[in-house]
Amino acid sequence: MKGGKALKGEVVISGAKNAVLPIIVGALLAEDICTINDVPDLADVATISEVLEGLGVKVSRNGSTMLVDSRHIDNITAPYEYIQKMRASVLIMGPLLARKGQAKISMPGGCGIGTRPIDLHLKGLEALGARISLEHGDIDAKVDGRLKGARIYLDFPSVGATENIMMAAVLAEGVTVLENAAEEPEIVDLANFLNSMGAKVRGAGTSVIKIEGVDSLSKAVHTVIPDRIEAGTYLIAAAITGGDVLLKNVIIDHIKPVIAKLGECGIDVIEEDNNLRVISNGQFKAVDIKTLPYPGFPTDMQAQFMALMAVANGISVFNETVFENRFMQADELRRMGANIKVDGRNAIIEGVEKLTGCQVKASDLRAGAALVIAGLVAEGETEITGLQHLDRGYENLVEKFTAIGADIRRVTD
Ligand code: EPZ
Repeated sequence: MKGGKALKGEVVISGAKNAVLPIIVGALLAEDICTINDVPDLADVATISEVLEGLGVKVSRNGSTMLVDSRHIDNITAPYEYIQKMRASVLIMGPLLARKGQAKISMPGGCGIGTRPIDLHLKGLEALGARISLEHGDIDAKVDGRLKGARIYLDFPSVGATENIMMAAVLAEGVTVLENAAEEPEIVDLANFLNSMGAKVRGAGTSVIKIEGVDSLSKAVHTVIPDRIEAGTYLIAAAITGGDVLLKNVIIDHIKPVIAKLGECGIDVIEEDNNLRVISNGQFKAVDIKTLPYPGFPTDMQAQFMALMAVANGISVFNETVFENRFMQADELRRMGANIKVDGRNAIIEGVEKLTGCQVKASDLRAGAALVIAGLVAEGETEITGLQHLDRGYENLVEKFTAIGADIRRVTD
């Protein structure tokens, strides 16, 4: 890709990766066929579909509409290669325990951005009556009879643990109260999907979620919310290039933390009848970032914002409170001329006049997005490898950026 072009035009945001993955897994709970609309064409969606097909579930797609037929589940195991490829596969534990009384998954290993344990998932499922053992790297979760509702307090508002426990509890006997639950919009979307199947979930989006177990769940039709992280990524890409871009299919409320931060930089993001328009002159102030669970500044936007701060006026201090190793983009941004010092969960970024293009590699999904953002403004040509990371979370990335004027093309690996 070549830097220097101000982005102009319109981009349509796709369905949210971090909503559609738990929702596709949630369809396991219905002894019926669920229809899911606005499913983005992402590698992670293909992976979760393979995981479900391995359980005997039929998954079919027609454009952005997906049908998930969970009438016959004849396997309760997710093999290592899937868990290793995508951690969200652990979300099948809750629904399998609820539907089949057993789930066997391999213990997920670490990943680039952190050890990412699943202790909170397992503690919650045990509280609901599951017996969990770990042998030869496999977790075996079993329950005799039906899961039973419980009061559960999460040590950390984990998104995945909240989703796993919620999906187990909807078919449990009695009431579950989940406290210190994650409040992300994707949790609300999952709860809405489950309720449209006949579940009784109340309070999603707050820190206390109450679930009254029901005996069975039926089919549902659901449209996935837009991807707030994809939207934030395009907002920053437009801002860094001094562009003027209109984002369509956004839920403005979900992106408030990012809009507020861009406003502090002096970048105006204006609401235009349910769309978002960002106009920038390419000059912006350095601001500090502290990532927090929703509604704080999202950790999934930290790397992209670091690319912006790399060419801001002033010095930014970043504090990444959610994951322990999520500054891997810094090494690659330094190769492009950024002035970044990393110390554990803190980073100091001193804005520089310009970045220069070179060969860089994506270490994870959002670090890859940060490199694209930097490449849009770097002098000369930037070549990014490790595109498999980007393909996990950004639908039609090259096409979308090309349509708003970026000089970017995919060179087959
Ligand atoms: C979800 O991951 C997202 N993934 C992540 O997005 C996102 O960064 C993260 O939530 C935080 O918002 C999906 O939704 C598929 P967590 P998840 O459980 O559920 C610790 C992206 O780029 N923790 O909220 O794994 C954990 O180690 C991805 O789209 C425990 O200690 O996140 C981490 O430090 C990356 N024990 C923190 O909590 C547990 O049992 C947040 O993890 C679970 C989590």
